[in-house]
Amino acid sequence: MTKRSMPRRFAFSSLWSCARIVYNTCERVLFVKIAIDGPAGAGKSTLARALAARLGYIYIDTGAMYRALTWKALQAGLDLNDPMALSGLAVELNIAFDKQDGQQRLLCQGEDISAIIRSPQISAAVSQVAAHPQVRQIMVHKQQQLAQVGRVVMDGRDIGEQVLPDANYKFFVTADLQERAERRLQEMEACGFQVDKDSVLQDMRNRDLMDAARSVGALKILPDSIVIDTSAYNAEEVLAQILYLIGEC
Ligand code: DC
Repeated sequence: MTKRSMPRRFAFSSLWSCARIVYNTCERVLFVKIAIDGPAGAGKSTLARALAARLGYIYIDTGAMYRALTWKALQAGLDLNDPMALSGLAVELNIAFDKQDGQQRLLCQGEDISAIIRSPQISAAVSQVAAHPQVRQIMVHKQQQLAQVGRVVMDGRDIGEQVLPDANYKFFVTADLQERAERRLQEMEACGFQVDKDSVLQDMRNRDLMDAARSVGALKILPDSIVIDTSAYNAEEVLAQILYLIGEC
């Protein structure tokens, strides 16, 4: 080794370390991904929406994407047990999220279907559509493409495991079944749907079972996810808890 080669090697490795620090910092700041999974009615969407607004991130509601596919499939008269027909439709599906008057809208082939996808008919059918591994593969790919821009909060069932396994933060948000059914009832009534609590509760119980039992993308708590039980907390309290956990308060 010559006298000159050591400092040069040292300078190169210092430069390399600096570049890596800058890259990691940029990645942390520019490409942060937050995954929020959990059962229906646990408050995921409210939380994810508020968190994204607070951080200036994009919010992606993947449940709404499965609902949009279900709506399109029912419109087209497809058999919900036919994975080939459903995955063909999923490939063609053009879904975009748009903000109008501060509200996030879901556009499917340019049509605003934000309200109709919350109907009891879609709620009862969506888990059946989402259970097909072929359909999930396509939807997961679409969701990953949407998240590529970074600075996203994405909620669903399989986000931490399948869609964003490299997410910077993974949360599993849950609440007890009665509380979840009550929240979903209020949400549906606010959308103008007349439903009774028992049928909401039964639908939720069925969906929980189907979402947890499917072979791919099942709802589960991951070893690296932080569990938040929202049963006894309101939306602001849960948001404050998450902001604290990610070091943003
Ligand atoms: O969150 P939600 O209730 O709008 O979701 C609707 C359905 O879509 C739900 O029954 C489970 C399914 N879903 C899924 O399988 N994977 C996701 N990432 C999001 C939702």
